[in-house]
Amino acid sequence: MATNGTNANGQPHRTAPSQNGKAYEFTDHTFDVVVVGAGGAGLRATLGAAQAGLKTACITKVFPTRSHTVAAQGGVAASLGNMGKDDWRWHMYDTVKGSDWLGDQDAIEYLVRNAPAAVYELEHFGVPFSRTEDGKIYQRPFGGMTTEFGQGPAAQRTCAAADRTGHAILHTLYGQSLRHSSEFFIEYFAIDLIMDEEGVCRGVVALCLDDGTIHRFRAKKTILATGGYGRAYFSATSAHTCTGDGGGMVLRAGLPLQDMEFVQFHPTGIYGAGCLITEGSRGEGGYLTNSEGERFMERYAPSAKDLASRDVVSRSMTMEIREGRGVGKNKDHIHLHLDHLDPAVLAERLPGISESARIFAGVDVTKEPIPVLPTVHYNMGGIPTNFHGEVLTKKDGNADTVVPGLMAVGEAGCVSVHGANRLGSNSLIDLVVFGRAAGLRCAETVSAAEEQPDLPVGAGDNAIARLDRFRYANGATPTAELRADMQNTMQSNCAVFRTGEILEEGHAKIHEVWKASDDIRVTDRSLIWNTDLIETLEYDNLIAQAVVTMDSARNRTESRGAHAREDFPDRDDANWMKHTLSFCDTVAKTVTLEDRPVHTYTLSNQIDYIEPKKRVY
Ligand code: FUM
Repeated sequence: MATNGTNANGQPHRTAPSQNGKAYEFTDHTFDVVVVGAGGAGLRATLGAAQAGLKTACITKVFPTRSHTVAAQGGVAASLGNMGKDDWRWHMYDTVKGSDWLGDQDAIEYLVRNAPAAVYELEHFGVPFSRTEDGKIYQRPFGGMTTEFGQGPAAQRTCAAADRTGHAILHTLYGQSLRHSSEFFIEYFAIDLIMDEEGVCRGVVALCLDDGTIHRFRAKKTILATGGYGRAYFSATSAHTCTGDGGGMVLRAGLPLQDMEFVQFHPTGIYGAGCLITEGSRGEGGYLTNSEGERFMERYAPSAKDLASRDVVSRSMTMEIREGRGVGKNKDHIHLHLDHLDPAVLAERLPGISESARIFAGVDVTKEPIPVLPTVHYNMGGIPTNFHGEVLTKKDGNADTVVPGLMAVGEAGCVSVHGANRLGSNSLIDLVVFGRAAGLRCAETVSAAEEQPDLPVGAGDNAIARLDRFRYANGATPTAELRADMQNTMQSNCAVFRTGEILEEGHAKIHEVWKASDDIRVTDRSLIWNTDLIETLEYDNLIAQAVVTMDSARNRTESRGAHAREDFPDRDDANWMKHTLSFCDTVAKTVTLEDRPVHTYTLSNQIDYIEPKKRVY
């Protein structure tokens, strides 16, 4: 449904210079709201803005139903109480504890209180959830989800459509967005934000991959829903498209990213291939063993065992391997057993991972264990926002200063409900609750009737300069070589366990890769389906985020959630209960780190602030 732009509001098409002497011509578009990204959060925000009667566009580099949300398997957390007693307050407690007290408690309250309504809304939109015998939405246990403020048994809180929940949600939301007349610009790659001199975001510039035309989208609100940057690492469950394009744009605009040191490793990526085997498999009764056949999680998390939170399980697996109890020829991975489960349950509840295990590990899950290894899965860090989805920056000492015109949702954002470690199935609920919140905020703050001011002189020239620089990049080092250096450095030097020494080495290496990027070579000079150029623009987004991730990790001298420092094994609330803000000068290639207070207050008086305590499972 992509449309060609017309000259909006009588503005003439403008041109910007190119190194080949032939100017680039802009096609101009004007919308009330422009969403960049068509995963779960982007589509929910698009739908919300369109429902509010706002002229809404969604720009996406892949076909919407190919967005990475399609790969989400296990489910979406909400305290429906369909399979046992549940309460949003217990969900809140688990999320705060899971975050290792780095999550903002006002935002967490917003998430968990709105979660049940958001799931019922999905049901009414048409998401084909699995069902209980009496026809209710089926819910399974997931890591770190408990009852009675951690004192009761595991909660069955994760609403599932077999093990293809993200797929079901994504398809449904795309259909709903089309139904509400949002306009889609499919296979358009966003190059850079348009920021004016007052620091207001005025829209975004994108390249149409199909025909090489350049588009300027003028908008009252630009919502970044571009996903995470998992591909900064060598082995990730993330799609190859997860290149943090929104985070890259934000850094180049001189705005900060938050808590980038917190990178989640999912315990069960398929050994070698890295594909996800859902935590829902342990929710259905699966368990991990070492080379001695021991169910070792009983030692590390006596109460929650295999359903402890992901950081705990990933660290335990890594320790087993380090201590020589890994499985396989090289003793370098772990076994996940589903072979004791009823094949009918596997076929009904876990058909997708049964197929993945067969294709990518050559394993029949009804007979053999799956070889697994912790694999990069999720970025807790991202673009700082409040719970309306409005982007924040630090100005005159106030780290909660709203950046006018700019919003962010989903994994691209950091609201921050996941803090230092996200609980499984809290991602899909984050997408729909905060995607919806962003739509509501647009409805409150944007008037369709209001005229938009003209774009400032030179709007979009920054994006053209960036595109043109890479298009004609004539250095000696191909993008693929730099990308491999970046991914290997992140994998070796910013992994599950970290030390000052390893991070110091990682800092030197990743800055070296960043500097070497000045010598990048792109061989294809065309603009139409130029994958060499697009991969280079993506690499440029990734490397800046890899650098701030490493630098933030090196800076944080404590252990909290997914950031496990062997040289600082304890959480240090006195000095470190604060968010990291990382700014970077992408031209001078320097990083500046600042901080932002954690919100230690709730939204309402229906729950008190949850005081920090030792985090054990
Ligand atoms: O294991 C999973 O199904 C992943 C879920 C999540 O990351 O929320």
